[in-house]
Amino acid sequence: MSIDGPASLRAHASARGLFYGAAVDTGLLRTDAAYRALLAGQCNIVVAENAMKWAAIHPEPDRYAFEQGDELVAFAEQHAMQVRGHNLCWHEALPSWFASTVNPGNARQILTEHIRTVVGRYKGRIRAWDVVNEAIALEDGRTDGLRTSPWFEMLGPGYIDLAFRTAREADPHALLTYNDYGIEYDHPAGFTKRAAVMALLKRLKADGVPVDAVGIQSHIDATTSGLGPGISAFVSEAQALGLKVFLTELDVNDDNLASEDIAVRDAAIAKVYGQYVTTMLANLAVTDVLTWGISDNHSWLNNSKYHKEKHPGRQERALPFDASYHPAPAFYALRTALDSATVRNA
Ligand code: G3I
Repeated sequence: MSIDGPASLRAHASARGLFYGAAVDTGLLRTDAAYRALLAGQCNIVVAENAMKWAAIHPEPDRYAFEQGDELVAFAEQHAMQVRGHNLCWHEALPSWFASTVNPGNARQILTEHIRTVVGRYKGRIRAWDVVNEAIALEDGRTDGLRTSPWFEMLGPGYIDLAFRTAREADPHALLTYNDYGIEYDHPAGFTKRAAVMALLKRLKADGVPVDAVGIQSHIDATTSGLGPGISAFVSEAQALGLKVFLTELDVNDDNLASEDIAVRDAAIAKVYGQYVTTMLANLAVTDVLTWGISDNHSWLNNSKYHKEKHPGRQERALPFDASYHPAPAFYALRTALDSATVRNA
């Protein structure tokens, strides 16, 4: 049965005013024609998995490397896709020069220059930017939950405001997003992290900081029983603040599924895709669903320490397409979930 054209995820999403897309390995985009065709056929939005992060796009203090970002944006435009930008301010993927160069005296200037330069480069061509990524870390022990990241250490909590305000100036039309993980579950850690993220969003809104959306990364465990009403309530609260909600990095890992029978694991994964995405799309604030990769052979999960220790040599089944770019049960579950949504008009 065809999964192309009108049967694609792209067509089913578009029909409801939704965006479906995937994180793209820009190296593969250059070399793998089948990968390009899969993305073009199935996605109406894409995001660079790594190419727009600091380490990739700003390799030296005075040099930016835009080639791979440019290629992704050109590819997207060629295929009438939208683009998400990921990301402008994070504690990871910092370039090797960062630690020896950035200090409290120049951090403000370096952060704002980076944001102006990168956002300015793609002005008018990016639907949404992940402006600040993963700023909450309860394990760091602060009462406000803020991660004691390098940016925090050098600039204090105001680095978040600065990043959003600078991004808004550089591209007034991009939807400015706060993006985080570990907020999906109703177990105690999920509950407290979700509350800290919501408190941050409310603080930003109250202070007039230009934040337009919250990204729920959605890296989910196939065995979870923790997806309860909490995340739906969070989405409603975000909606009440006037925010859009994006599922930015969806994948469903099978690390805690012992079965070596792929069909058994696929069924469990597809069930989570279906239930989670259907539940999220029940709220009109949720407009974009992106998976973190499109096919299992190019998932970051295969390189995670936990996965490699637990299942050496086993490939994850976390994404809508398998390693041969054939649709997995997750594809059909995701498509049915997209179909369940009422039509958005934005
Ligand atoms: O490109 C180099 C390559 O030249 C080198 O040989 C190789 C050796 O390790 O490393 C390659 O770089 C790796 C890069 O992925 C590209 O594969 C980095 O080491 C590795 O750290 C990097 O990991 C990425 C990670 O973010 C850190 O930036 C993953 O691909 C990417 O999937 C992951 O994505 C994050 C999101 O940005 C934020 N949310 C969580 C998500 C998963 O961790």
